[in-house]
Amino acid sequence: ISLTILLPIFGYLLGSISAAIVVARLLRLPDPRQAGSGNPGATNVLRLGGKRAAALTLAGDLVKGVVPVALARFLGLEGWALAAVALATFLGHLYPIYFGFRGGKGVATALGILLALQPLLGGAVLLVWVLIFLLTRLSSLAALGAALAAPILGLVLLQQRGEQALLLILALLVLWRHRGNIARLRSGAERPFRRS
Ligand code: G3P
Repeated sequence: ISLTILLPIFGYLLGSISAAIVVARLLRLPDPRQAGSGNPGATNVLRLGGKRAAALTLAGDLVKGVVPVALARFLGLEGWALAAVALATFLGHLYPIYFGFRGGKGVATALGILLALQPLLGGAVLLVWVLIFLLTRLSSLAALGAALAAPILGLVLLQQRGEQALLLILALLVLWRHRGNIARLRSGAERPFRRS
């Protein structure tokens, strides 16, 4: 079978490995699906286990976004075929085969995908996230701002239609996964991180 089938399968299986769940188990932290916001992601691991655990989670979920996309590019895929690899990887994180299809919100994995797709684009989106987080201390708001910025920046920084479409789909999925956060932000119930 061809790379256009094999690589999305590889991406989905790798994307399904939740760094938050693995890190929490290794460091004997509370299961992020059961504690805090209930989300298996770096933000919730920061709440439950502090900066070191959160950095490991972020790194793990980011790398699993980078690897399939970088590999696909290395093997010559671009456009819609490359987008399919990236989307399958992202969907692995959101709907992981190993964890009852209940995964995270996709922010770190999407960032890894963008960095592998086009480092300048990934860097610019990361900058948006960091700026909003520093100003508001709200990880969810930073993610929403970065998600809105990504497809707009993609129109300028990416040439292929399929890759531009990918960014729009990723952004819509990130927004959808943050619908609980959006409701909390609107009602003022979303708690910012304290400065440390
Ligand atoms: O990346 C997820 C973040 O934007 C929100 O996480 O745990 O506050 O729902 P959480």
